[in-house]
Amino acid sequence: MSTVLITGANRGIGLALVRQYAAEGAEVIACCRDPATADALKELAKSSSDRVRIMPLDVADEASIDSLKRALGDRPIDILINNAGVSGLSADLIETVGWTTTLRVNALGPMLIAQALRDNLRRSNEKKLVAITSIMGSTSSAGGGKYAYRASKAALNNGMRGLSRDWAGDGILVGLLNPGWVQTDMVAGQAAYISAEECARGLICRIAELTPATSGVFQDYRGVVSRW
Ligand SMILES: NC(=O)c1ccc[n+]([C@@H]2O[C@H](COP(=O)([O-])OP(=O)(O)OC[C@H]3O[C@@H](n4cnc5c(N)ncnc54)[C@H](OP(=O)(O)O)[C@@H]3O)[C@@H](O)[C@H]2O)c1
Repeated sequence: MSTVLITGANRGIGLALVRQYAAEGAEVIACCRDPATADALKELAKSSSDRVRIMPLDVADEASIDSLKRALGDRPIDILINNAGVSGLSADLIETVGWTTTLRVNALGPMLIAQALRDNLRRSNEKKLVAITSIMGSTSSAGGGKYAYRASKAALNNGMRGLSRDWAGDGILVGLLNPGWVQTDMVAGQAAYISAEECARGLICRIAELTPATSGVFQDYRGVVSRW
């Protein structure tokens, strides 16, 4: 049985991933910033016969990442899904606070978590490191606007692509997955075309199919390769 750790697990795509992995029988470590207010996740944990364990994690806070690592100890993690993200506080603006927060949550956080839990991945059977990225991280298809978000996902892509090369010797496979345009709070009011549940089904298939040949490849939830 796989152990799957998911960040940003209290709503949106993260919550749908928790629900589906738990239904498949996986042991899910569901991380979120504020477990006390994570009502939907707590309901899911209650009905999952102890397969879902909720743990606190703020991906922008190194002390929080350290605490998670200490709490996990040497426990093997088969699949580590860096899902938590923000759309960018500054939207189309160019200013320091919004850029710094967006880069920290979307790009630096996943890299720090990967580094902190590298040994846990190494000890597992599947050894899969996943980042939920975005087509907005594609430089060749970049439109205007959303500068901080685009830059953060491009940085995430580049960093994770590097890990797919440098950690291949440990047998670690890296999934770099664009979830599509998904009906969640992040894009509320926009014409997103798939539900979080449909997206999670696709992501779980892509993660199951990861091989050395697809490690570090930028692809979407259907397995269509995206342009860098
Ligand atoms: N929806 C889309 O169309 C779309 C498209 C492309 C990529 N994505 C990516 O998909 C991922 C999930 O997004 P979503 O659509 O499910 O968005 P969402 O519904 O807004 O959920 C975002 C999740 O990230 C968490 N989060 C934000 N900052 C965090 C932090 N510092 N530490 C820990 N958790 C934090 C949120 O927790 P709180 O509740 O505590 O804020 C929430 O659980 C993101 O990486 C996003 O960039 C989404």
